[in-house]
Amino acid sequence: MSVLPIYTYGQSVLRKKAKPVRRIDDGLVQLVEDMIDTMLPANGIGLAANQVGVLERVIIVDAAEAEQNPDLKPMVLINPEVIQAEGKWTMEEGCLSIPEIREEIERAEKIRVTFKDLAYNDQEIEAQGLLARVILHEIDHLDGILFIDHISPARQKLLRGRLNKIRKGDVEVIYPIITEAVEAK
Ligand code: NI
Repeated sequence: MSVLPIYTYGQSVLRKKAKPVRRIDDGLVQLVEDMIDTMLPANGIGLAANQVGVLERVIIVDAAEAEQNPDLKPMVLINPEVIQAEGKWTMEEGCLSIPEIREEIERAEKIRVTFKDLAYNDQEIEAQGLLARVILHEIDHLDGILFIDHISPARQKLLRGRLNKIRKGDVEVIYPIITEAVEAK
């Protein structure tokens, strides 16, 4: 089991677009296992590869948490694409890369998503509510988008001080992180 450090706000990898996965190899399987080992102890409900410094289109979702069903295993979505979205709803969101900040975000209520599974087979699912929200949040990461990009400029201005603290690593979390301070060493 490998817990990977999570890149936090201010790190350029969070602003880059991840590249499609062309084939599944041992490295990719290992990445997925490590991402799961990283997300669960951090109490995250989803994680995108960008957040562990890898620019490949891979996201995982803690389905047990999102669907309130302890029997569900973490979902792995490779090259996920939203092909249909309907409805709108607002809920408070957070992000392991932006600790201690939570904001009300509007997202689609119901989505259809295509993706590849770990055997590189085509899959399609319909998701709604929290599961849809987490998938949309994580796909945003693959495109270099953070949840705070969805709030008003006025609200963003109010968060500036706290975001600067995160950028400098002045934040307390229960999981390993990579910040400007760590990278400068
Ligand atoms: Ni996030």
